[in-house]
Amino acid sequence: MTAAVDPVKLSKQEVGKAAAALVQSDSIVGLGTGSTTAYAIQFIGDRLKSGDLKNIVGVPTSFQAEVLAKQYGIPLTTLDAINHIDIAIDGADEVDPQKNLIKGGGAAHTREKVVDYLANQFIVVVDGAKLVDRLGAVFPVPVEVIPMALTPVTWAIETLGGKPELRMGVKKAGPVITDQGNMVIDVKFDNINDPANLEKILNNIPGVLENGIFVNCADVVLVGEVKDGQPVVRKL
Ligand code: 5RP
Repeated sequence: MTAAVDPVKLSKQEVGKAAAALVQSDSIVGLGTGSTTAYAIQFIGDRLKSGDLKNIVGVPTSFQAEVLAKQYGIPLTTLDAINHIDIAIDGADEVDPQKNLIKGGGAAHTREKVVDYLANQFIVVVDGAKLVDRLGAVFPVPVEVIPMALTPVTWAIETLGGKPELRMGVKKAGPVITDQGNMVIDVKFDNINDPANLEKILNNIPGVLENGIFVNCADVVLVGEVKDGQPVVRKL
């Protein structure tokens, strides 16, 4: 008896592969964070190994991306050593019809925002469950906060009508600590009617480093789905 294939895993694999196929030789590549991008990083590594892809350098958006890139043989650089990024590949937690995103499920949205906005082409890789009519439908907005400002930022968020929850670690006692040494408050809003405005309002709270709303950033969204048992990738 063969084990049933997990359709979400299959969708993530296929969409990761499709994004990795868009990377060209002699380019600088932003490497996103999360389980979907992990497949893209793996397939970019496979292409380098086979000789299909040559002379690329990656800019990691997190410690996770850095570790994976090293594992799959992708040379890395930093933003101090380059003057542009050709293409970035990254996942998302929600995507609306205007290609606005909520990111930060992996608490990496601050570095992701820097890298993804810098890229000449930003490719988002998601499975079909991430598509929503309106941002905030399912996923809270992750807000990275410097630790000493946790209490006043929490009050400010409540005043805005959000329901804040400090993100706690899994297999680690206490809160999640980001790659920058900060904490993440996940904020549920009943309605996000104007994502661009909410992004600015949240970032204006003293002590907030960055939030996970990405507006006018994604160029292409690749959606992985399984139809009739077969993985398919469509482009938004
Ligand atoms: C990390 C992110 C991820 O890209 C996002 O959470 C999607 O992750 P996954 O591909 O595992 O569903 O924003 O901060």
